[in-house]
Amino acid sequence: MKHISTFLLIALMTLSAQVRASTNDEGLRTHVGRVDIGMQVGGDEIFWIPGDKQLIPSIAKNANYMLIGNNLKWAAPGARTLRPTKDTFDFADADVLVESAQANGLKIRAHTLVWGQALPSWLTDQEWSREELLKILRDHIKTVVGRYRGKIAIWDVVNEAVEWNGVYQENFWLRKLGPDYIEMAFRWAHEADPDALLFLNEDGTEGLSQGSDKFLEIVRTLLSKGVPIHGVGLETHVDLSYQTLGGNDVASPQALNANITRLGKLGVRVHISEIDVRIPLPATSESLQRQAHVYADLYKACEDNSYCTGFFVWGLTDKWSWISRTFPGQGAALLLDENYGAKPAYVALLQTMRNSTDKCFSWLENTYPAVLRKPQPPEILQDYYYRYYSESNNFVAVRDGKVFYWDPAAFPLPVEISSLSRCMDLMAR
Ligand code: G3I
Repeated sequence: MKHISTFLLIALMTLSAQVRASTNDEGLRTHVGRVDIGMQVGGDEIFWIPGDKQLIPSIAKNANYMLIGNNLKWAAPGARTLRPTKDTFDFADADVLVESAQANGLKIRAHTLVWGQALPSWLTDQEWSREELLKILRDHIKTVVGRYRGKIAIWDVVNEAVEWNGVYQENFWLRKLGPDYIEMAFRWAHEADPDALLFLNEDGTEGLSQGSDKFLEIVRTLLSKGVPIHGVGLETHVDLSYQTLGGNDVASPQALNANITRLGKLGVRVHISEIDVRIPLPATSESLQRQAHVYADLYKACEDNSYCTGFFVWGLTDKWSWISRTFPGQGAALLLDENYGAKPAYVALLQTMRNSTDKCFSWLENTYPAVLRKPQPPEILQDYYYRYYSESNNFVAVRDGKVFYWDPAAFPLPVEISSLSRCMDLMAR
């Protein structure tokens, strides 16, 4: 393969380009490069009868990650509770989602091992000694993470540990165990799966505020103690003014970029981990266009900052969003409408990602110049976003974030030569 790729890169030396874009099967996933794209599955949409059969394949077309939003919480809402009793676990629903993700070629992010909400009453209604509670928490993390070792790539280990005014959140775990519960959770998760990326996930700390200052301090302290924390998630549940869930915290592209940078410089990956952009109902063409700008601007803020490596949306279609249940009079917060139709936000995000792919093609052209000949796209590239080169009748194409080269005279099929992620790294040099 190395020999072929060298040959192909030499062949690329005679290329220049005219943009030709395939639209048949193009989705956001076509253009996934340095920044992973994920979408949340809440569970109900799959396990309520009749389940939504369209959601997971639609996520697979537009993301390379499935984010399991509810069914790996302690008291996964709905039909089943992950931890019905101190001594039992019910993984049935989580297993279905993990298997569905794998069957659709999706990596998995799981949310969340330790949180102050979605806890079963047998845990919160009983008095436990510190030792008993530490054992319960350790057993939980070891059992759950251990079960999906090698299958779940990213864990939100601890969720929402900080108040927006810059103090530790007074949740069940802080009251019973003190702030060390955070460190212990990360260490136990790392023991259970040393290869999983372990994230501290937070809301209301996306911009520059008391909350984000406290969050930065917690991350710095954890790293200084050698705690295995690999990343932080900035939830980014915002409105049209970039107002987050955190009181005075505003995630404007500028503030978000500054916060991502100061977190990234500590040595952790930064993800936008749960973005949705709520708008007043009924939505208007004007509010939908403003929403489109917010999505595109915040994605660009991530893509333009090398410390930001993930952009996770808290769902895909408005049909299943949590927003309208929680914010009366607001909704339509996601990328597709209730009927899976593309909203301006989806179109804007796709175009923003295409622009980056086009930069990659232009970089390839400038590095390996060539001349165009025939504009007709062949059937074989219907599922690709591609450029066509006439001088040597070659194509460079992308699909699923991978870069392919195809010379119909030489190869029956496109040959993978690189990835958008690699291309963008090279461009950045
Ligand atoms: O499944 C049951 C359903 O059978 C029942 O008919 C219905 C009405 O009672 O409730 C359904 O369960 C609900 C579940 O969402 C699924 O829709 C639970 O009551 C409800 O508490 C649960 O809310 C979830 C919430 O976290 C609390 O766990 C939301 O879906 C989920 O989107 C939300 O996600 C949080 C993240 O974990 C952390 N970041 C903020 C984000 C939004 O709040």
